Amino acid sequence: MKAAALNRVQVHQGSLLLVNRNHPLQCTIPPEQIRPLEHSTVSLERKTALVLETLLSTIGSGSSIVPVSGFRTHKEQEEIYASSLRDHGEVFTRNYVALPGCSEHETGLAIDLALNREPVDFIRPYFPEDGICGRFRSKAASYGFIQRYPKGKESLTGIAPEPWHFRYVGLPHASIMNSHGFCLEEYLDYLMQFPYEGHHLEVRIENKSFEIFYLKAEDDVTRLTLPGYLPYQVSGDNREGFIFTLWR
Ligand code: DAL
Ligand code: ZN
Repeated sequence: MKAAALNRVQVHQGSLLLVNRNHPLQCTIPPEQIRPLEHSTVSLERKTALVLETLLSTIGSGSSIVPVSGFRTHKEQEEIYASSLRDHGEVFTRNYVALPGCSEHETGLAIDLALNREPVDFIRPYFPEDGICGRFRSKAASYGFIQRYPKGKESLTGIAPEPWHFRYVGLPHASIMNSHGFCLEEYLDYLMQFPYEGHHLEVRIENKSFEIFYLKAEDDVTRLTLPGYLPYQVSGDNREGFIFTLWR
């Protein structure tokens, strides 16, 4: 067994962060963890950028899919919010633009994509269900991306359906969420049923086995032991705890 220790601040770091109106971002991503996508001025968190580029290249998207908006600073989100309020009014803005401090774009883990067809709308890009965009959708989960604001989940996400907004949550989480039809709010609640001290979630996806559990954070340092021989990842949920993912 090996010992692990997590600081309280880590609750607010990682690829499974829940960021919405009720869960504002608590940590700013360091600039060195952000980089521009290839042939683009749009930036993302480094791992998210790499995985997205791999996915786009796997489906042979070439220039037919364009990144429209990725990482945004808090100030940029404030400007987008203010200009949307001015141009489109309050109802539209509340539906399609997250409050500054509550936008996934400030994490670097979210990307808005468009079919490369003029004009490209910055707030509501066109990303249809068919063609190359459909191919992207069909592969997204196996690369760790979810469509973050699905139709039917508006009361949970607080945002209208956004077929263009994809969020990196990593593997195997995106696939589990898709198979259950969970949005991120529902998935994180579901994972709390699998505590460290109890029964863990075991899943097998594409011939790989994963074990997942939830651990509530202590006020200061959270300590636990893990099987020494298994690779694992940990992410905060931006609420009260951590999600551990073990590769079995
Ligand atoms: N369009 C999404 C909700 C954002 O502004 O973060
Ligand atoms: Zn977006």
